[in-house]
Amino acid sequence: MDLLDKLRAVEQRQAKFADGSAMPGLTVIDRVLGPCEVVVRGRPTLMFGSNNYLGLTQHPAVVEAARRAVVEYGTGTTGSRTANGTLAVHEQLEREFSDWFGKREALIFSTGYQANLSLIAGLCGARDVILIDSESHASIYDATRQAAAQVIAFRHNSPESLRKKLERLPRQGRNRLVVVEGLYSIRGDVAPLVAIVDVCRAHDAYLLVDEAHSLGTYGPRGLGCAEDQGVLDQVDFIVGTFSKSLAGIGGVCVSDHTELRALHFLARAYVFTASGSPSNIESVSAAVKVVRSHPELREQLWANVKRLRLGLRELGYSIGETESPIVPIFTGDEARTIALWQQLLTEGLYVNLIVPPGCQVDECVLRASCSAAHTSEHLTRALEIFGRVGAELGVAGVALS
Ligand SMILES: Cc1ncc(COP(=O)(O)O)c(C=O)c1O
Repeated sequence: MDLLDKLRAVEQRQAKFADGSAMPGLTVIDRVLGPCEVVVRGRPTLMFGSNNYLGLTQHPAVVEAARRAVVEYGTGTTGSRTANGTLAVHEQLEREFSDWFGKREALIFSTGYQANLSLIAGLCGARDVILIDSESHASIYDATRQAAAQVIAFRHNSPESLRKKLERLPRQGRNRLVVVEGLYSIRGDVAPLVAIVDVCRAHDAYLLVDEAHSLGTYGPRGLGCAEDQGVLDQVDFIVGTFSKSLAGIGGVCVSDHTELRALHFLARAYVFTASGSPSNIESVSAAVKVVRSHPELREQLWANVKRLRLGLRELGYSIGETESPIVPIFTGDEARTIALWQQLLTEGLYVNLIVPPGCQVDECVLRASCSAAHTSEHLTRALEIFGRVGAELGVAGVALS
């Protein structure tokens, strides 16, 4: 087999759907008209596929903070945090996170992906065991490979499966790190953290919760699912990303373990990559302040979630039970899912498409995401498009599994 055959196979797969319609994975946004409106293929399009949960990408304070930082610090740091890439703004943002979470330490990373890589591979090695939820994000799986530790996957969202796996491990000798997500990004389901914390405590395991999608959206202060479920003080490491509610790029870990700081010298995905650009860091700092001072954004988000879910249900779409800003539409068959996605986009509605290799061939999903910035008119229009296209393609109104 030739080295390039793997890539040729991907091209052939893509070509199957190339009939002049939008291509999965190759959508180009020509212009951004607002937090929830873009132009795709020359057409104004409603954005229901971003992670802009609180709509802060265009918030005046967030944009102004980025603009000011470019003028003051220039465009980039040109180096890693450990070398020349730590500016006062990086440390300020870490203090802001530490204060927001009430945790002793906060460390920021260039992306959320690198936060997971840094934490998991920085903490664990050949003598340790990492237990991960079987539906973990790729960054968690990739981190376990870099860690070279023993890796055990337990059944998705099953504290019982986790308990059984922990029970089978020898009691002495090896450290255990359990990694779960607060809110899972495909099905939009929430981890049962109270039970997971109990299992971890009973078996001397450290717990890391990745709150990528739940930071800003869950909990009275927007700190995520651990806060929402009352176990924030019992989680060893909370990881968050800036690329969703915080409308920037980067990642963070907060913890009461002050040893976290040593990752500054140790974590390869932190030491050997450039730090976040000053404009990005300052925009995230401004976004954190907005999230902290405007809880009504979360209220608006949840009102929108309710309306979208009710509307999709009434149209006959199969959307599962869990209420979250991520609304999965279970469509099953790959060709049917892609046709539906293409037609929605042609009609001016962008949602996310999850097809192989992101899932099994017959378990495809369209994923609609809500934002606090969706207006009532956006929701009405989106549901109208969902209704029309679903009826045309014979998808809505029939039970999908
Ligand atoms: C659970 C989870 N962790 C980590 C990441 C990576 O975050 P980032 O995009 O900031 O690299 C994502 C991104 O989608 C995610 O869903």
